[in-house]
Amino acid sequence: MALALCSLSPAFAADSTQAGKATHPPGAAIASGHALATDAGFEIIRAGGNAFDAAVAVSSTLSVVEPISSGLGGGGFFLLHDAKTGKDVFLDAREYAPASATPDQYLDKDGKLDPERSQNGPWSAGIPGLPAALVELAQKHGRLPLAASLAPAIRIAHEGFPVYARMAGGYQQRREVMRRYPGTREVYERGGKPIAEGDTFRQPELAHTLELLAEKGFDGFYRGETAKKLLAGVRQAGGRWTADELSAYRVKQRTPISFDFRGWKVTTAPPPSSGGIALAEMLQILEPYDLQKLDEAHRVHLVVESMRRAYRDRTFFLGDPDFTDIPQDVLTNRDYAQGLRATIHPDRATPSALLSGKPTPLEDEETTHFSIIDAEGNRVGGTQTVNLLYGSGLIPKGTGVLLNDEMDDFALKPGTPNAFGVMGYEANAPKPGKRMLSSMTPTFMESADKVAVLGTPGGSRIITMVLLGMLGYDAGLGAQEVAALPRYHHQWLPDLIQAESGAFAPGTTQALRAMGHELQGGDEAGLGSSHRWGNLQTVEWDKRTDTLSTGSDPRNPVGAGKVELAPVP
Ligand code: GLY
Repeated sequence: MALALCSLSPAFAADSTQAGKATHPPGAAIASGHALATDAGFEIIRAGGNAFDAAVAVSSTLSVVEPISSGLGGGGFFLLHDAKTGKDVFLDAREYAPASATPDQYLDKDGKLDPERSQNGPWSAGIPGLPAALVELAQKHGRLPLAASLAPAIRIAHEGFPVYARMAGGYQQRREVMRRYPGTREVYERGGKPIAEGDTFRQPELAHTLELLAEKGFDGFYRGETAKKLLAGVRQAGGRWTADELSAYRVKQRTPISFDFRGWKVTTAPPPSSGGIALAEMLQILEPYDLQKLDEAHRVHLVVESMRRAYRDRTFFLGDPDFTDIPQDVLTNRDYAQGLRATIHPDRATPSALLSGKPTPLEDEETTHFSIIDAEGNRVGGTQTVNLLYGSGLIPKGTGVLLNDEMDDFALKPGTPNAFGVMGYEANAPKPGKRMLSSMTPTFMESADKVAVLGTPGGSRIITMVLLGMLGYDAGLGAQEVAALPRYHHQWLPDLIQAESGAFAPGTTQALRAMGHELQGGDEAGLGSSHRWGNLQTVEWDKRTDTLSTGSDPRNPVGAGKVELAPVP
């Protein structure tokens, strides 16, 4: 179906209502972390593609223009809604552990977790899943050939795009690691000088890798020329991947987690994401409270207490469901949530020490999210990642593919926090072929009147950002307001509320302290932090007004949400 460009504004309505309710959206809406990726999605929709083809275009273009966050060398989760069948499907394209990645490989000589191995270079990288997801999306869900949907990414990789501040600054942060690898230097340095803001960034080798994927599908990445180069690059850097491990990669189709929350049907990410189970716990704990009627301090207190309890369960119970027996039915059960709620004091913090542990710092995060809805009502929420800023820093020579450092998301040393300050035990211990626990949480919300797709990057804070976004939609906010909401977070350990500066009204910080909460960041003298979290991208369809709108996180100056209307049939 061809779309006419009617608007580039974040909200637009058309009259396709029936008895006061639209039966399908008036066009398409896409929000992503980079305007070029959003445009690539519309290019494919205009060429006759559906939301799934657009997802291939957006995802692959993000891999080209946002290498700080995600790429072919990483993985992702894709939550799909097929309007024709009404079915929701979750594609798990998470990386998995190579057989060489035994826990002892990640310890230093004193037996401590060695971030040099878990966050940098070949040992930090899991076997990538994103290329397989692109193939699966196109072949099983799209209506255009894979090559057509990859064309915008290939073109941009050849022609280049302007380096933006976050990309250049991120490279400076990671340069010491990245310049160790000749394949990375070739891409990010010219004559010994690093990329700078405003440079045109071309990636001919990545374009070639994408062309092989477009031409040969799965085998174009996981076997043949690209696979050989990946294996050689990992070996040269001291790692030990095998050809069999690459060619054995498969996307797994999983059943999404689904539950009701105050009249919304919520559909979200199952393990190996920790997001869906945590959302089910938190939202079902919070359901009976009339949060809008409470003062801010009590509202934040209750939300934080729900976070504390859900993240404690994340630590002990969650991992790859193919390797770990997860008590999912219990954790997502309303009665379980009610039991947890009963342990919350209405105006006293529950010390996490009662549940044990010690504070740890949080580091920067990467990852990216996009949300799509098309004129037929198909939806995609895609969250994809190479983990930390620029992943492992390693590009195997000649591929343009920056490998992830997702191994750090395993509990490599039981009870020792990873880069996000979250830890784990046996449920998330590394094993050959096992997928590391993730926080990526692409989510759908659907009520009688509205449909929303949302998600964000942010490491362990992803889940609480999605939670706050959902509470925002439930409170009646629009998509852009949801994306802009101030953020706070608690993850059981460290036992403190972390908050963006400006997150709380004056006085709330003191009131929370008086309840026994410890705070970091927030709004008052001595707590201020200019650090901003996340990059929430959301689309919303209001069936009553037949309006599509988008929310693109204002914290990210290169992100973009757009709506294009379909011609009236
Ligand atoms: N690497 C971030 C996540 O998957 O949660």
